[in-house]
Amino acid sequence: MASAPPPDHAPGVKRLVVLVSGTGSNLQALLDTIEEQGPERYGARVVAVGADREGITGLERARAAGIPTFVCRVKDHPDRAAWDLALAGATAAHAPDLVVSAGFMKIVGKEFLDRFGGRFVNTHPALLPSFPGAHGVRDALAYGAKVTGCTVHFVDYGVDTGPIIAQGVVEIREDDSPEGEAALHARIKDVERALLVEVVGRLARHGYRIEGRKVLVP
Ligand code: GRF
Repeated sequence: MASAPPPDHAPGVKRLVVLVSGTGSNLQALLDTIEEQGPERYGARVVAVGADREGITGLERARAAGIPTFVCRVKDHPDRAAWDLALAGATAAHAPDLVVSAGFMKIVGKEFLDRFGGRFVNTHPALLPSFPGAHGVRDALAYGAKVTGCTVHFVDYGVDTGPIIAQGVVEIREDDSPEGEAALHARIKDVERALLVEVVGRLARHGYRIEGRKVLVP
């Protein structure tokens, strides 16, 4: 007989809502690790995946894993504030302990942050505070930086400005051409996936405090 699914509120297992806009390989890394380790050992499970658009691999990955999904498109709302309110409501409906932006390509607004600030984690493909924004990989390459990487941080009211939890370094090689953004991004994502999985698990299992710009994980 198949064993019963874990209860929706398993004690000690934190609830994650993951937001995606694209391929969802970071989401997949979280799902695979939770599947391998089990939610109790990992400390968390993904209870829902949200997106700002239909037709993306990230949503397919969630559906394939049997995870509830929701889509909240800006164009379905009269303005950005209304979208933000709807996204906050759709996310809150799944009662997350942590919300993870894993390649979610929208800046959330005040309503969302008033609700989820301090427990909304983002991963960015550059070493913040250098190269914030939507083109972190391309900008580091164009600048001629010798190293770049990824930053897992809490989201605040600025763009990629919130307290840093962890960073991973990736070398920019002499032979990385200005057109080589995709290859560099692929190397960053190898590091990023492992870092995100490690950080989210650590936050879930140990808890944390945010003191000014410092994130303290016991
Ligand atoms: C990641 O590199 C993330 O930092 C950036 O977009 C990428 C998302 O990749 N914002 P995926 O959708 O998880 O594969």
